[in-house]
Amino acid sequence: MTSDTMRAMVVDAPGGPEVLVERRLPVPEPGAGQLRIQVAYAGMNPLDAMVRRERLAWLPVVYPLVPGMEHTGVVDAVGEGVDPALVGRRVLSRQGFGGYAEYSVASAAAVIFLPDGISLEVGAAYRGCTSTAWYALHGAARVREGDRVLIHSAAGAVGAMALQIARDAGARVCGLAGGPAKQAFAAGILSDPRGTVLDYLRDDWVEQARAFAGPDGFDVILDGNGGPNAARNLELIGVLGRLVYIGATAGAPAPAVPTPVLIARCFSVGGVDLRSAETKLGRVADAVINEAFLAGRWRAPLSEVVPLSAVADLHRRLEARELMGRVVIEVGGAQPRRA
Ligand SMILES: NC(=O)c1ccc[n+]([C@@H]2O[C@H](COP(=O)([O-])OP(=O)(O)OC[C@H]3O[C@@H](n4cnc5c(N)ncnc54)[C@H](OP(=O)(O)O)[C@@H]3O)[C@@H](O)[C@H]2O)c1
Repeated sequence: MTSDTMRAMVVDAPGGPEVLVERRLPVPEPGAGQLRIQVAYAGMNPLDAMVRRERLAWLPVVYPLVPGMEHTGVVDAVGEGVDPALVGRRVLSRQGFGGYAEYSVASAAAVIFLPDGISLEVGAAYRGCTSTAWYALHGAARVREGDRVLIHSAAGAVGAMALQIARDAGARVCGLAGGPAKQAFAAGILSDPRGTVLDYLRDDWVEQARAFAGPDGFDVILDGNGGPNAARNLELIGVLGRLVYIGATAGAPAPAVPTPVLIARCFSVGGVDLRSAETKLGRVADAVINEAFLAGRWRAPLSEVVPLSAVADLHRRLEARELMGRVVIEVGGAQPRRA
């Protein structure tokens, strides 16, 4: 029996992590074509911190805002036109926000059904980052066996999955991470004696990367950071190399590359947006990703699990660059229950 209100971490106006406050909100009712999810876990996605500060130009924010873009749970009610047999199914929602609350609503046509063998906890940490890395490497960069691949922010969630995807494509992988702890985390995930992870806070990282790539440079560079180090990509990319951008966490856009430089140096620059790539390619990665996780070849970058009450501090830690991999927030837990 569902009561009328639910526990939620809410943002009423844009600002720093402190604007996240606990409140009770009405339990949402699923509309036509929607289902309601009793939320188990939410992944700490950088988009949740950006929307809190209203930094997503493409997303008009409606307050009160409940962040939590990527979250898992169990279907507990369905709206008009939705099969009631879906009640009880374990799902992942990546459609909007709402995961920092005991219940969310989502389009029934767009939720992802978690396969047996993927827990609700791992489910909140594995999918968006893996799909992004897969489409960037296989869709845009067309990574091949033997390629030398450079991956920025290798200790972040997308970076950690990119390490594994490139390694399994037969590439020789060089990750970059900020500081020894992140370097060790990423090296553990890469787990490949042919590859390496460099600490890019050291002055000599470019020389080390160049030595790893050899005289031909990197065949593929995947960059979600942008910022000052993006200029280094142009020094490190090789002939017929593919430089792919997926974000600009470090704040500044990647530098424009003049056409004569592209021609003379013979490389290409591209970008990937997950939703556009999935729409174009029809989510071809889904089966590949599930198979690789269920077979144990790839592992989710799940680094810690924190309670919902700690979410403001978690946002602070994300902005202070203290996090590694994907932290998961326990909302209702594996057996969702009402607070
Ligand atoms: N295009 C798409 O469809 C798509 C989809 C998903 C994600 N993304 C983008 O891909 C990037 C990585 O996403 P993610 O989920 O892997 O993020 P994440 O887990 O939060 O990792 C981000 C990494 O960025 C590095 N970083 C550099 N400058 C930073 C700063 N000023 N503040 C915080 N971190 C900073 C940090 O590593 P170091 O400290 O080691 O530098 C951190 O580990 C983001 O830009 C995200 O928006 C794009």
